[in-house]
Amino acid sequence: MKTILVFGGSGFVGSNISHLANKLGHRIFISDKIQKEKLKNFEFIQCEITNISSIKACIQKAKPDLVINTAAIADIDFAERENEITHKVNTQGALTIAELCAAYNMRHVFISSDAVYSGEKMEYFETDETSPINYYGFTKSMAEKKIGEVNPKSVIVRISLVLGFPLDGGNSFLADINKKLICGSDIESPTDIIRTPIDVKTLSAAVLELGLSDFYGIIHLGSFDKISRYELTKLLAHELGFDKQRIKPFDSISTENPKAKRHKNGSLNVTKAIELLQTKMLSIEVTIKNAVERIEL
Ligand SMILES: NC(=O)c1ccc[n+]([C@@H]2O[C@H](COP(=O)([O-])OP(=O)(O)OC[C@H]3O[C@@H](n4cnc5c(N)ncnc54)[C@H](OP(=O)(O)O)[C@@H]3O)[C@@H](O)[C@H]2O)c1
Repeated sequence: MKTILVFGGSGFVGSNISHLANKLGHRIFISDKIQKEKLKNFEFIQCEITNISSIKACIQKAKPDLVINTAAIADIDFAERENEITHKVNTQGALTIAELCAAYNMRHVFISSDAVYSGEKMEYFETDETSPINYYGFTKSMAEKKIGEVNPKSVIVRISLVLGFPLDGGNSFLADINKKLICGSDIESPTDIIRTPIDVKTLSAAVLELGLSDFYGIIHLGSFDKISRYELTKLLAHELGFDKQRIKPFDSISTENPKAKRHKNGSLNVTKAIELLQTKMLSIEVTIKNAVERIEL
């Protein structure tokens, strides 16, 4: 049994990782700005990751073997508008956590994103150069680079789109579309944005496996096949029991879009994960089935 501290542990990904780790018998500390109602059974340490003393106090209290940092400003459009706070959380906060883990000799996992890539290539390998096209991607790319310098034994996980229901709120694409469809809205979805999604249960298992192994460096996690957001949203709508005709196609590149730019092709090659991990990388078909199955706490 290990002691695991999850920064951003009240969020969509962090709470799912915490839940699985707890089920596997580890001692879990959730750290976040606020303690969520449905996560009340977990040990909680309040932390503001823009504040070094707050991070330090949190690590000193939990004394973890493993630190998983899922805390971030994950809203790409908010990040584009609010550069200063996004830099403080996504780059500076992430760097401080990595530095302290190196100083205290603790295992460290950082969750990054396919948004570090420009999206111009057909497929991305871990060794490809990063060249983000929006501010969110820039903050993740800077965090990766600085973490690599201060704590080269870190695990840096790049993921594309995470599918699943949150345990108590957070940034879930699936929960958003489910809500819109229940409310009777149709959904516009881009035909020209390509992703390699991962369901949150597979992601949680892979992150824990990596964190508890001696692997370090950058690794992609995701489905081994790719899909447009339009086709994916149709399949998700169908799996949720809605008419897939309610998903309407549009071409994001030719549409006047006031939001942050999206990288077109976020296809992550996952050969390294397939070769290294016992946790299986899945097809999109299985990913969708896993994603819509809710976890009851
Ligand atoms: N979901 C996806 O599809 C996806 C795709 C690629 C990469 N990622 C990455 O995966 C990680 C987890 O994302 P997620 O989807 O779980 O996002 P999320 O649900 O928004 O979770 C992020 C958590 O970080 C917390 N946080 C934000 N600012 C903080 C601060 N200053 N101090 C302490 N905690 C703070 C948030 O708290 P508040 O909500 O109270 O602000 C939230 O609980 C992130 O690194 C994200 O960039 C996610």
